[in-house]
Amino acid sequence: MNRHLLSAGDLSRDDALLVLDTAADMDAALAGRSIKKLPTLRGRTVVNLFFEDSTRTRTSFEVAAKRLSADVINFSAKGSSVSKGESLKDTALTLEAMGSDAVVVRHSASGAPHRLANWIRGSVINAGDGTHEHPTQALLDAYTMRRRTGRVEGLQVAIVGDVLHSRVARSNVLLLYTLGAEVTIVAPPTLLPVGVTAWPCAVSYDLDAVLPKSDVVMMLRVQHERMHGGFFPTTREYSRRYGLDAERMATLPDDAIVMHPGPMNRGVEIAAEVADSVRSTIVEQVANGVSVRMAVLYLLLGGLIDVSGADEVAA
Ligand code: NCD
Repeated sequence: MNRHLLSAGDLSRDDALLVLDTAADMDAALAGRSIKKLPTLRGRTVVNLFFEDSTRTRTSFEVAAKRLSADVINFSAKGSSVSKGESLKDTALTLEAMGSDAVVVRHSASGAPHRLANWIRGSVINAGDGTHEHPTQALLDAYTMRRRTGRVEGLQVAIVGDVLHSRVARSNVLLLYTLGAEVTIVAPPTLLPVGVTAWPCAVSYDLDAVLPKSDVVMMLRVQHERMHGGFFPTTREYSRRYGLDAERMATLPDDAIVMHPGPMNRGVEIAAEVADSVRSTIVEQVANGVSVRMAVLYLLLGGLIDVSGADEVAA
């Protein structure tokens, strides 16, 4: 494994499988314990450096680090010297001077984690950069697919909706390709990024044609906050063409699953009865996110930890 996790595309097949297997080990190691904590990263410090809003990802990294006994510093741009104009570099160097071993960063600028990785000595984990990438989301999605269906290789995966603004879509396409799944992106032409034809996936504008042959359907949030202009006529029209409701869900194969990274716009890209159905993995994705992020922290900081800590996890 690299020292940093910046892009899902940087992971080899072996790296990705190692993360998924380690996440399963983390689950197993914690399952038998009344106190959900391993001593593995005791004495290490993980900084959550969040310049954009987040519910799931920030708390998930925090829980993951704490379950490995690391100290966690939660830094949000609001209320910090960033609002006084302090740069990303100075902020990061300040946090590093306080002894951080890993920085988990979310930023509205695509590429910010890559810059950070050149400035600091510790590991950098990309927790979402602009519309670019969100590699731990892709890893937890692959982990969820594997747990639910027993495999990732050979799965037919449809990723549906606002691909243009989605870092989740890009990271998933890259990782799923590495793991041997076949991905079809489904979106209106206005919500596809320039250059999507070079991505290792198929592209369709027709959701109804794709659903009957999909093992996994991943619905994406319509990211209103990143939209400056009209990408579709009305929300109602969008839902009619690209939303997943119960009637559409019924056209899926029997054991197909429905995913969503959250936060959801219920009634827009996904109907409430679909989100709450037995096919939905949305709550599992959140739980699996903790295990996968534990695995990532463990593997990235693993070179630094003492063997007694590592043994605890292997045991
Ligand atoms: C996603 C994100 O922030 O990229 N959410 C997440 O991390 N679970 C997707 C989104 O915001 O729609």
